[in-house]
Amino acid sequence: MTDASDDLCPQPGRLPPLATEPLAAPIWLSSVYRCHDPQQAEAMLAGTLPGFVYSREGHPNAQLLAEKCRLLHGAPNGAVVASGMAALATVLLAHCQQGDHVVVSDQLYGRSHALWVDEAARLGIASTIVDTCDPKATAAAMTERTKLLLAETISNPLLRVADIAQLAEIAHSRGAKLVVDNTFASPALCRPMEFGADLVVESLTKIMNGHSDVLLGMLCGREDAWGRVSRILATYGFTAAPFESWLAERGIGTLHLRIERASANALAAAQFLAEQPEVEAVHYPGLSTHPDHALAAGQFGGRYGWMVTFTLRGDLTAASKFIAAARRIPFCPSLGDICTTLTHPASTSHRLLPQPARDKLGIRDGTIRLSVGIESEQFVLDAIAEGQAPAG
Ligand SMILES: Cc1ncc(COP(=O)(O)O)c(C=O)c1O
Repeated sequence: MTDASDDLCPQPGRLPPLATEPLAAPIWLSSVYRCHDPQQAEAMLAGTLPGFVYSREGHPNAQLLAEKCRLLHGAPNGAVVASGMAALATVLLAHCQQGDHVVVSDQLYGRSHALWVDEAARLGIASTIVDTCDPKATAAAMTERTKLLLAETISNPLLRVADIAQLAEIAHSRGAKLVVDNTFASPALCRPMEFGADLVVESLTKIMNGHSDVLLGMLCGREDAWGRVSRILATYGFTAAPFESWLAERGIGTLHLRIERASANALAAAQFLAEQPEVEAVHYPGLSTHPDHALAAGQFGGRYGWMVTFTLRGDLTAASKFIAAARRIPFCPSLGDICTTLTHPASTSHRLLPQPARDKLGIRDGTIRLSVGIESEQFVLDAIAEGQAPAG
């Protein structure tokens, strides 16, 4: 037996006419959009008519967030994707094919290294790993087959700073494009395209969203570097989800305030750590002892970011003791949260990097990476000092 409600229940509801616009963006969870006719659907799918048909191809929340990222970077094109890794994969797949070559920094996030070296090799794309802080070595690594040069604005985990203008010159002189992973800087510290980068990638999972409740990535690029990006996103299904896009758009609202507070706290933390006898080395671009301090001052407008890496004397035992004793700093292998967190690169982000390569870079078992939050400066310093006390 059926009644009218059997038919009514499955019918999609219709939006009420809206005389006013909501101030906060709605979340458009619909995976598909009602089209007027085949011509409209085809034109929208072809990109000749603005609008949405199927959310893997695009949806309002992703577009809203992408537009914000694009404007923050002063870029003609922007897109958001399901993760920072999806953004990096999009760039690789959009620009390279079998027989091509890429030059990548020897200081990359571990998974990024795995993508640009190991996975690229499986696709027939050769890679050369080079110290991108060494312009001569970088220029020498470029060949006529090189399509992309990749570096991180502030490298993970040792916080070396890329000279973006110099790298752009090297890439362009060989007909290649410069890709910059700006995750550790964000557009609040650095807009790599102003220094000549062709493509910028960020993990929005980190400081851009800032609340550890979203996994997302973004990429921005010049007109002549965009080419196949939209096709790759939709074909490989790297699309960002609506709810995540909405959350990140909200998180970005406080980006500049968070960066300002966290950068001031990070400088204080770095200065404090530099005075501790248990600490062998502190890596922070805001310290005058950092090899890229002057470059960072010019590129980042007087702030040096919220990440501080330090190496304890005594390797893994010392690191484990510190992590256990610093009870108010959660051990989280991520970064950019509003609260201070720490991680241990050798066992997390860089565990896939062979030990000799880690040793060569200076990533020791005693190396700890702090992501400094927006708590008070006193809280941050006290919480670090607790790490130096023996665990009870
Ligand atoms: C510098 C850098 N790039 C890219 C990524 C990848 O981002 P996601 O975790 O959002 O895929 C990370 C992750 O930690 C990172 O640190």
